[in-house]
Amino acid sequence: MEQNTHKKDVETFFIDYLNNKEINLELKNALEYSFISDGKMFRSLLLFHLLEDFNLNYKDFLEFGCAIEMIHTYSLIHDDLPAMDDDDMRRGKATVHKKFSEHIAILTGDGLLTHAFEIVAQSELEANKKIEIIKLMTDCAGFNYGMINGQVLDMENNQNLTLEQLENIHIQKTSRLIELPIQIALILAGKEDYFKEMKTIAYKIGLLYQIQDDYLDKYGKSYELGKPLNSDQKNNKFTYASYLNQTDHLIKISKLMDQILISTIDLPKFHNQIKKIDERTK
Ligand code: IPE
Ligand code: IPE
Ligand code: MG
Ligand code: MG
Ligand code: MG
Repeated sequence: MEQNTHKKDVETFFIDYLNNKEINLELKNALEYSFISDGKMFRSLLLFHLLEDFNLNYKDFLEFGCAIEMIHTYSLIHDDLPAMDDDDMRRGKATVHKKFSEHIAILTGDGLLTHAFEIVAQSELEANKKIEIIKLMTDCAGFNYGMINGQVLDMENNQNLTLEQLENIHIQKTSRLIELPIQIALILAGKEDYFKEMKTIAYKIGLLYQIQDDYLDKYGKSYELGKPLNSDQKNNKFTYASYLNQTDHLIKISKLMDQILISTIDLPKFHNQIKKIDERTK
């Protein structure tokens, strides 16, 4: 299957990268354990399918998919730590701090984030594009309306949020890392004119993705998700599942999906990749 080929290619790229480094064995095991897993690689698939819509060969840009997945995987390892969501299962197996130790989990995350930047820096892309991508990685993953700030707000989350405040958290903690592959594809394809338009779409895809994640946390099946149910309730988090009943929650997901699908009709591969999100709540 095409999807599996993309995933395998990213995994092989990552393993080759690790094999060319001197790494403490415990840390290397944890890096591989976290990265080579049942993750969906949704973000890098968005990058690769968008590149294909722009008639570029995704295999020429594997390092960018790998870097994006490294940042995402780091965010999940830290998200699961006892100081954050305190979860024991991720991608169908024990979380990194459970399998190894807390210090290894923290440092595995730190390592993934740090080396994502080296992978991009080492690419053969022209220097100005490389700098643009590195700035974008910082912007989307960082503390200035990026993932880190979203995670801070999520941890401060209390039961009295307005829907607007909740949406604002979701956009920062999730949409920005979904914006990243989309904007990288535009830079690689020389289509920066579409930045603004695609940012709006990326925000909506991220919102959809997180609203669905909130749904599945309450109504999903742990064995399908590979992570525990009711993590949000356990942590007293106000999510879309606290705001909407099950039927309205599903309606919200499908309305947002319809809007996104209409606005991406001219990008068939990207469009089909987004459509696959639906399968998780069917
Ligand atoms: C989980 O992301 C965290 C969210 C932002 C919803 P994914 O659902 O993409 O997790 P993996 O990578 O497939 O494990
Ligand atoms: C996590 O949101 C978003 C990140 C930036 C890591 P969640 O805490 O809801 O993600 P899961 O449900 O643990 O995957
Ligand atoms: Mg969380
Ligand atoms: Mg979590
Ligand atoms: Mg969740």
